[in-house]
Amino acid sequence: MKKRYLVLAMALSLSLVAGAALAAGKDAKSLYAAKCASCHGADGSKAAMSKPLKGMGADAFTKAMDGYKAKKYGGAKKAVMEGQAAKLSDGDIKALAGYVSKF
Ligand code: HEC
Repeated sequence: MKKRYLVLAMALSLSLVAGAALAAGKDAKSLYAAKCASCHGADGSKAAMSKPLKGMGADAFTKAMDGYKAKKYGGAKKAVMEGQAAKLSDGDIKALAGYVSKF
């Protein structure tokens, strides 16, 4: 029984460390590559799905992502992004904003 708690505690602290790394922006690149690039392109220039992310400033990006999360932003295909944004923490969005604004 004790062992089980230990494993649980370790898993929990590992995920906290991962969260902190994301908040610091360290992993925004891999987060973007894994979760966003397929639709928006590796450099945010793909326009098949939406307006390109390339050229979007950090503020506009954050506003859009917060808006999707709160279901208060978007166009005809916003449901796609509401699903994406729901899985991101504020730290993730902040880190991604820094990354995307440099495209
Ligand atoms: C399954 C495809 C798909 C994935 C994956 C995806 N997006 Fe999107 N994204 C879209 C679509 C479609 C829209 C347009 C939605 C609308 O009509 O509002 C969009 C719109 C956006 C916008 C708003 C652009 C603007 O100018 O208004 C941002 C910002 C954005 N996505 C960021 C992201 C980020 C960051 C990720 C990764 C966490 C991501 N997207 C993952 C399909 C996707």
